[in-house]
Amino acid sequence: MAYPVLNTQNISGYQNLPLSNNNNQGTNNPQLANKTVAINEDLQITSGLASSNNNDYSSFIQSYSNFADNITIKKQLGKGIQGIVFKGYFKYNGSAKQKIAVKTTKNTKSIKDLAGQQIDRSYAKDTIDEINTLLKLRHSENVVKIISAFEEEIAGNFFKFKVHIVMELASISLKDYRQLRVDRKTNISKENGNYAMKECLSGVRDCDKLKIHHDDIHAGNFLMFFPQQKIKLCDFGLLSTYNSQQSGYSMSVRTISIVIQFINDCSLSNEIFEFFISTTKTNISRKYNLSLQEAENHPDYLIEAKEKIAEFLNANQQLAETLVDSEKYCRENKDTCLADKIISEIEEKSTCKPLTPLKKVKKHGGCVVS
Ligand SMILES: Nc1ncnc2c1ncn2[C@@H]1O[C@H](COP(=O)(O)OP(=O)(O)O)[C@@H](O)[C@H]1O
Ligand SMILES: [Mg+2]
Repeated sequence: MAYPVLNTQNISGYQNLPLSNNNNQGTNNPQLANKTVAINEDLQITSGLASSNNNDYSSFIQSYSNFADNITIKKQLGKGIQGIVFKGYFKYNGSAKQKIAVKTTKNTKSIKDLAGQQIDRSYAKDTIDEINTLLKLRHSENVVKIISAFEEEIAGNFFKFKVHIVMELASISLKDYRQLRVDRKTNISKENGNYAMKECLSGVRDCDKLKIHHDDIHAGNFLMFFPQQKIKLCDFGLLSTYNSQQSGYSMSVRTISIVIQFINDCSLSNEIFEFFISTTKTNISRKYNLSLQEAENHPDYLIEAKEKIAEFLNANQQLAETLVDSEKYCRENKDTCLADKIISEIEEKSTCKPLTPLKKVKKHGGCVVS
């Protein structure tokens, strides 16, 4: 298979590299000339994007064809509805190779005007939104970091483009990690569970703060980074921005379900948390002949909900109490972010222990965590 080779000079290993006009020949975007993007050893963006006018697609996007062979695409990591994610490496001017991930979207239709100057990118809205959102969230420690992005005109088809998003490379997705732990029958401790919950919700909290609604929260869209022990949210291709009437409440509830599913190694529906909260409410309302609203205020409701959830958290009563109490608090205090509330409760009351990388297995088809 011939892998596409991305060329870039907008990334430098350990130094800031202003792009010269030579690197932008053929580009109609004069803003590219002054742009500087740099990443340090940990692939953190360190400068060049600080000014707010570099915070959007049009000033961030690079032309595919103008860059030397600094990025090479290697094996495929994942495939989803919107595109393919490859592992690759970046090498610049004799610097050491640095691993990266490149998400290549499927062909995106774009229309140029007759003079070929203006491009109507409305057909690429999802990808452009994803890039813009990653740029807005690049301060977050729990959202995957965007390093660069390229637009590639498909040879022989001047009406089609591909967009390549260059990101820091994760070790494994939370979904695959969980599956390996299940396969290997290695338990996840309460402390590990607390840690995972806190990490996942931190990404959600950072989105909530900017009123960004990810809309596709599941374990395949959380990435794990070793040895940094971070868990980061990725895949902002389906997002929406919620209006001021909505809160981040329902998004956090969904996230909690996913993490519960992860901690418990169970394969039940993603709505476990919501399910327990609502079935407990229904039970109480039937038992005492109360409306659902009244049931919420009955003392048995909280006791029962905590017990049910603790069962699914491998008897982690402390975390169950944190979740149920925070949920109640945020239902009553609509301005409070549920994810934020749970994180601070966990930090205050629980012990957290980072998840450890899994050892390599050298069997046929054995999965390898790098
Ligand atoms: N930065 C990354 N590092 C390592 N693997 C990644 C990275 N981004 C995505 N992946 C892998 O590729 C899969 C698909 O990526 P994602 O962004 O979710 O695309 P899609 O929109 O197609 O679902 C993920 O579930 C994950 O396994
Ligand atoms: Mg995905």
